[in-house]
Amino acid sequence: MNKSELERTARSLVVKGKGILAADESLRSTERRFARYHVEHIPENRRLYRDMMFTTPGLEEYISGVILFDESIRQTAHDGSPFPEYLVKKGIIPGIKVDGGFVDLPGFPGEKITEGLDGLSARLAEYRGLGARFAKWRAVIAIGENIPSQFCMRANAHALARYAACCQAADIVPIVEPDVLIIGDHSIERCEEVSTEMLSTTFRELKKANVYLEGTLLKPNMVLPGKDAPRQASNAEVAEATLRTLKRTVPAAVPGVVFLSGGQGSVPAAANLNAMVRMGGGPWELSFSYLRALADPAFDVWRGNSESFDAAQKVFYHRARLTAAARKGEYQPSMEAMES
Ligand code: 13P
Repeated sequence: MNKSELERTARSLVVKGKGILAADESLRSTERRFARYHVEHIPENRRLYRDMMFTTPGLEEYISGVILFDESIRQTAHDGSPFPEYLVKKGIIPGIKVDGGFVDLPGFPGEKITEGLDGLSARLAEYRGLGARFAKWRAVIAIGENIPSQFCMRANAHALARYAACCQAADIVPIVEPDVLIIGDHSIERCEEVSTEMLSTTFRELKKANVYLEGTLLKPNMVLPGKDAPRQASNAEVAEATLRTLKRTVPAAVPGVVFLSGGQGSVPAAANLNAMVRMGGGPWELSFSYLRALADPAFDVWRGNSESFDAAQKVFYHRARLTAAARKGEYQPSMEAMES
């Protein structure tokens, strides 16, 4: 394990004013996305979708790293260079999703476990050869009646720790993603309780697995009420609850916390991050690793049409700029109306 390289990469990913684009949707996710717009779900359209985002002029002003998927790490940009090489030329660090997705956790109805540890070390070595310098593994924790169970949280935290240790042995920075889902009608207080428990469990397992925290990034959910909750929360309430939860559970040795957007929508994802930064953040850098909050508005313009490719890139650039402004605490809702 090259600790200084791991730490340098982790710090570069959370450099001031930039964040991560999590363009690592699995085939299951792109299929759903494409079906909504009647875009044919073929490799070339998936390549064009990534090309639209990655070749956006000026993207490197706001994006420090891009998470690729097994298919896209092997695809090429429109100039013929492989995506990882193209990103490196722009000064953007290529990453790779390495989990195999989640399945039902047997014996625990409504709960999930993420698969993908078998053969992981060999895959990491291959991905590093293809240019990946960081990786992602997502665990999902659902909130519902009597769930999550301790067993589910432990099992997922254990897998995250095994994954993180494998990554570091391959000189790849692990992004550890325990995602407490927004699905349901639970309160913000319940999300805080579950997120606190899941994060504590995760860091306990990381410690047991001898994971080098200085060379690790955390990708958590924000503390939010369920999307069907009768009472929604203000940006200030979300920011306060999220910061309190993180300060109680995340060691200061972790260089950065990069939130997922989790289906909040682009504007709340920027406004909530902005509120946290304005409140003073914590001992770690606070940044983003969004997919939907960055990509949805641009995809809505592109819809698979070559004539709307340039217009979609303008929308994508605008969204990256606003999200990066939030990461600096400089986001204002009035910026939404600019250009695009
Ligand atoms: P969202 O920002 O759409 O939640 O996606 C981020 C991600 O990588 C989830 O695993």
